[in-house]
Amino acid sequence: MTTMPQLDTRPAVEIVGVRKQFAGRSRRSPGRLALDGFDLTVKQGEFLCLLGPSGCGKSTLLNMLAGFTQPDGGQVLTDGTPVDGPGPDRGVLFQTPMLFPWLTTLGNVLYGPRARHELSADARRRALDLLETVGLSDARDAYPHELSGGMRHRAAFARVLVNKPRLLLMDEPFGALDAITRVAMQKFLLELWQRERITIVFVTHDVEEAALLGDRVCVMTGSPGRTQAVIDVDLPRPRSIETTETLEFVTLKRQIREALDNEH
Ligand SMILES: Nc1ncnc2c1ncn2[C@@H]1O[C@H](COP(=O)(O)OP(=O)(O)OP(=O)(O)O)[C@@H](O)[C@H]1O
Ligand SMILES: [Mg+2]
Repeated sequence: MTTMPQLDTRPAVEIVGVRKQFAGRSRRSPGRLALDGFDLTVKQGEFLCLLGPSGCGKSTLLNMLAGFTQPDGGQVLTDGTPVDGPGPDRGVLFQTPMLFPWLTTLGNVLYGPRARHELSADARRRALDLLETVGLSDARDAYPHELSGGMRHRAAFARVLVNKPRLLLMDEPFGALDAITRVAMQKFLLELWQRERITIVFVTHDVEEAALLGDRVCVMTGSPGRTQAVIDVDLPRPRSIETTETLEFVTLKRQIREALDNEH
């Protein structure tokens, strides 16, 4: 008898009543309550955008999901398991692509498998396939300083994806890019997500970017960070820059902006 593969019905991410208090530097400085009573559930395969004012705790949340920092209260689970440290099941991409300057593009992509002593022919093939996917086959032997900003971002993507993460955590990854490269990277990310069907939590300041990319947009209040509204993005996929010119898109942006303005 063959067993049918089980559909994963656990949420990809569950954040329940999370509180994070940063200590002050001295007895006179009171410290900072960054998050208080924060709740969010992300479905398997969902593209969730986190949007909120500067300092509302977006990076703090992402760092908790990555396992870089722990909550002081509440729970953070991925695939039903409490997060207790970083792991290859979660890939993290920051505003500045993390590449080792002394390694080539291919060397950077193979860094994870090498560190885990999994440098098999299969891992090498996957790295080369990924370099092709991100359009960097010709730059496999180049060093990071020889790559453009967009190329460095794509190399960092490949470096994370080679580990086959189930969850991709992105903290304003395109914030520092010029407008043209940014649109190209958004297109690239949407195509990649549709192909790989991984879950993405994407932090951004940009209402338009959140509406273009997300299945849902979680709008956060200022400090301490809480969920102000979770807005469904009912726009058809695939989406492209043309999507941003539709009436539905403009209406949605207004709805998101109003939720941001309502924060108190
Ligand atoms: N390591 C830390 N020590 C003390 N306070 C911190 C630390 N990290 C963050 N904070 C504080 O916690 C709050 C939330 O910070 P966080 O970086 O999560 O905000 P953010 O929403 O990512 O902001 P931005 O949009 O500007 O990146 C801020 O008030 C910040 O000063
Ligand atoms: Mg941040």
